[in-house]
Amino acid sequence: MSGTILVTGGAGFIGSNFVLRERFRKSRIVNLDCLTYAGNLLNLRELEGEPDHIFVKGDIADRGLVQRLFAQHRPEAVVNFAAESHVDRSIDDPGSFIQTNIVGAYHLLEEARSYWSGLSSQSADRFRFLHVSTDEVYGSLGPSDHPFTEQTPYAPNSPYSASKAASDHLVRAYHHTFGLPTIITNCSNNYGPRQFPEKLIPLMILNAIEGKELPVYGDGLNIRDWLQVEDHCAALGVVLQRGRPGETYNIGGGCQRTNIEIVNTICALLDEMVPGSAPHGRLITFVEDRLGHDRRYAVDCSRIERELGWRAKESFESGLRKTIRWYLDNSQWIESVKSGAYRDWIAKRYGGEAIVVDHQ
Ligand code: NAD
Ligand code: DAU
Repeated sequence: MSGTILVTGGAGFIGSNFVLRERFRKSRIVNLDCLTYAGNLLNLRELEGEPDHIFVKGDIADRGLVQRLFAQHRPEAVVNFAAESHVDRSIDDPGSFIQTNIVGAYHLLEEARSYWSGLSSQSADRFRFLHVSTDEVYGSLGPSDHPFTEQTPYAPNSPYSASKAASDHLVRAYHHTFGLPTIITNCSNNYGPRQFPEKLIPLMILNAIEGKELPVYGDGLNIRDWLQVEDHCAALGVVLQRGRPGETYNIGGGCQRTNIEIVNTICALLDEMVPGSAPHGRLITFVEDRLGHDRRYAVDCSRIERELGWRAKESFESGLRKTIRWYLDNSQWIESVKSGAYRDWIAKRYGGEAIVVDHQ
């Protein structure tokens, strides 16, 4: 896609990796993000002064703002990453998950529909609303169950996955009822640079570097299917270009690992990369399990491979090594997300209102 894309949540982990990748594809990006604790402008620092990246601080639920962005920038596509994304936080306090993941998605859909219905028939046919979702909507697999396919019935188990499932249903309904050219992707666990250190892999890397305990939930035998974030972004690019409106595409790494295997691998890599503080495995601590903890996720992504020609390229071992290297080399980023200084700066810089930072 070489026109304008309205990206939401593009200061977060996957969104920022997507935006950074799109700059090589000649897309103009309007990046709408309200900068929750998980959004970080440092993620986009490489784009400072870049005329084709327009950052807008604001909420997807702010109808007036979203309407103005559609009118002003005339995007060819929306890619919706904006969400509350952490399962543990959704267990502690589900409210913001309902607000952003469901109500916010609804407002964004309504404004997209209104804009799209005023387009010429050629532009309307080309328009895409790509909703970035998760494999967690399918629930939990038993040890020998076949991985999730696009036909697997939804059975979300956490407030997070239930809120994502609700938004998927809305997106699907806006295609079925109004004809809005929507596409949904359901992806497995991502890892890579710029992931907020509340998620398993960056949390374990940072704790291990600092000599803190590595808290493994329950027996450590829950399974996730890991995908390097750039492979996910490449899949989203392919879906935007060639995906069929009204369809769902599963995306996964074909890389099932237990949590304890992940933590052991991180420790072994750190033993090699930071030998002074080895053995890092001594820090592993089994802690109380997550409430309602899904046992196993695995994704059958044969459809996107067969129909759109996408395939994950990065092997888990080399992807994890590069990720650890990134965290070792980016101490400024780590301090910014941990110290709270970054958030204070943003509050001072932006206050509470929607402000457009136009790098032009
Ligand atoms: P993240 O938490 O790192 O980033 C979310 C971004 O959305 C942040 O920049 C935040 O500031 C922004 N945001 C939150 N509420 C907003 C609102 N109301 N308006 C505007 N911006 C808002 O999340 P992530 O891991 O990058 O995930 C991105 C998307 O991909 C989410 O929709 C998530 O459900 C989905 N997903 C994530 C994974 C994963 O492993 N991380 C896997 C599959 C799907
Ligand atoms: O499957 C896709 C989903 O993957 C995304 O939709 C979510 O946004 C993303 O957060 C992720 O959800 P998980 O709950 O699988 O990810 P998390 O990194 O929180 O946990 C991964 C596994 O590790 C899970 O089984 C819980 C376990 N865990 C996690 C943390 C933070 C631990 O054992 N200890 C921990 O401290």
